[in-house]
Amino acid sequence: APFAVTLVTLFPDMARAVTDFGVTRRAVENGLLALETVNPRDFTEDRHRTVDDRPFGGGPGMVMKVAPLEKALLAAREGNPGARVIYLSPQGQPLTQAKAVALAAQPGLVLLAGRYEGVDERLLDAQVDEQVSIGDYVLSGGELPALVLIDAVSRLLPGVLGHQDSAEQDSFSGEFEDLLDCPHYTRPEVYQGQAVPEVLLSGNHERIRRWRLKQALGRTWQQRPDLLERRRARGLSNEEQQL
Ligand code: ADE
Repeated sequence: APFAVTLVTLFPDMARAVTDFGVTRRAVENGLLALETVNPRDFTEDRHRTVDDRPFGGGPGMVMKVAPLEKALLAAREGNPGARVIYLSPQGQPLTQAKAVALAAQPGLVLLAGRYEGVDERLLDAQVDEQVSIGDYVLSGGELPALVLIDAVSRLLPGVLGHQDSAEQDSFSGEFEDLLDCPHYTRPEVYQGQAVPEVLLSGNHERIRRWRLKQALGRTWQQRPDLLERRRARGLSNEEQQL
């Protein structure tokens, strides 16, 4: 059975960023990923199909109206039994590669994308298992964060990536865990007077692997020294201590 994701959103067309393009599109076509949307607007009863409501305590901005959202969430959970229910929010736990791995192991996901100033806190308490943030900045809604999460999780599902670009070889996984990626090169061999590093033309796969590891370590040291602390805590390989 495909990995089932249900996105609860006022803008279901935004899901096309996942379903219509690239690796994630192929995952859907191959039956490895199923992405459904549920729109709270379809659960409104009034003539104007109202999905927002005024915040108690006053102030600028609106809050998502409780009744349509609750009905949409119940429909989403009914259609995706056992799914973990996640609200995308800057108040959530950070989305990391480790978090993506954990979510890919769930029976399925219901992702709630908020709009306006957010969702009534009591609905979150009652209906949501977990909040996830994609970073310390504020977006206009939870849809883009939800799509980011879906992309990160999808490429971890068995069969989604070919052996060629296996998730094992990415930065943040496998031997390169907690490291930034090494540089990549393709033709031409010389571009703007810059030659491709000769080791990559050597055909010596052991030398190439060592060079890539060294590059990854160097870039991480330059750009993200914070990541090296985690790696040090886990213990460096003998090979790394020599590099
Ligand atoms: N909604 C708005 N901004 C967000 C963020 N940075 N992460 C998750 N959800 C959000």
